[in-house]
Amino acid sequence: MNIQWYPGHMTKTKRMITDSLKLCDVVCEVLDSRIPISSRNPDMDKLAGSKSRVIVLNKSDMADDRHNDAWVKYYEDKGFYVVKADSKSGSGIRQVKDVVNKACEAKRQRDQRKGILNRPLRAMVAGIPNVGKSTFINSLAGKASAKTGNKPGVTRGKQWIKLGNNIELLDTPGLLWPKFTDIETGLKLAFIGSISDDIINTTELALELIFTVSKNYPDAFDQRYGIGEIKEIDKIENAVQLLEQIAEKRGCLKKGGGPDKDRAALILLDDFRNCRLGRITLEYPE
Ligand code: G4P
Repeated sequence: MNIQWYPGHMTKTKRMITDSLKLCDVVCEVLDSRIPISSRNPDMDKLAGSKSRVIVLNKSDMADDRHNDAWVKYYEDKGFYVVKADSKSGSGIRQVKDVVNKACEAKRQRDQRKGILNRPLRAMVAGIPNVGKSTFINSLAGKASAKTGNKPGVTRGKQWIKLGNNIELLDTPGLLWPKFTDIETGLKLAFIGSISDDIINTTELALELIFTVSKNYPDAFDQRYGIGEIKEIDKIENAVQLLEQIAEKRGCLKKGGGPDKDRAALILLDDFRNCRLGRITLEYPE
């Protein structure tokens, strides 16, 4: 199953990000901790140029905690400032201001030497769709947030959100890249819901999810659906059989009788996307 998705509005978003970056001091790239490589837009390095960089490993509560810290180290070793966050509960969010300040320290000192004092830092929050950018911003900004209005050179409607007196955040729409070079990347992005289900055969996607999850988390299916012990599944007939078992357990029957695999597929995807199969990480640091 080869998935490609780059809707037209993303070309516009890319242009908006390129233009807005000129106004920003730092880029906060929000990633999904379950797939910290595949949820990174490879175009971002080029777009961000020499700006300071912060990586937010978001949804860390949904990822396997045995791997989260290894990913923090992986990106720190690559020279990024890194925050592990769960934007839904707010965990890790308090560190963000400090990390942004640290990432911009050199720039602040340069400003000071030029006599520019107390200018707020401007941070762009970027990421692919559904990684939790809006939730992250809302968690960071809390009730005290205030829109600071449009900035010169930025089209109307763009949202600057004030964080205290010295940081302003710019929210940006989700941006993917024009072509996924390997099939696995497209699949993982579809698993986490970053690609519209409208362009996907969700039953095929669920079968792919079974292959992927059963590799390292074979117990997840029994724990969720009570279908008995499962080993790694690598044959299509076994994956189909598992979907049928899920259908039976969940009472999904076709009109003429027999398990409704298509409905079971939707249940499985929804369970994975909402962490009901447990905390699962699908990529590991080299
Ligand atoms: P986006 O702007 O990047 O597109 O993502 P958005 O904030 O809309 O978040 C997408 C979904 O991910 C939302 O769930 C949101 O609640 C959830 N989410 C964001 N960050 C985290 C996190 O750190 N941990 C967990 N567990 N969930 C997170 P939703 O089901 O679409 O909406 P809702 O019903 O939760 O409001």
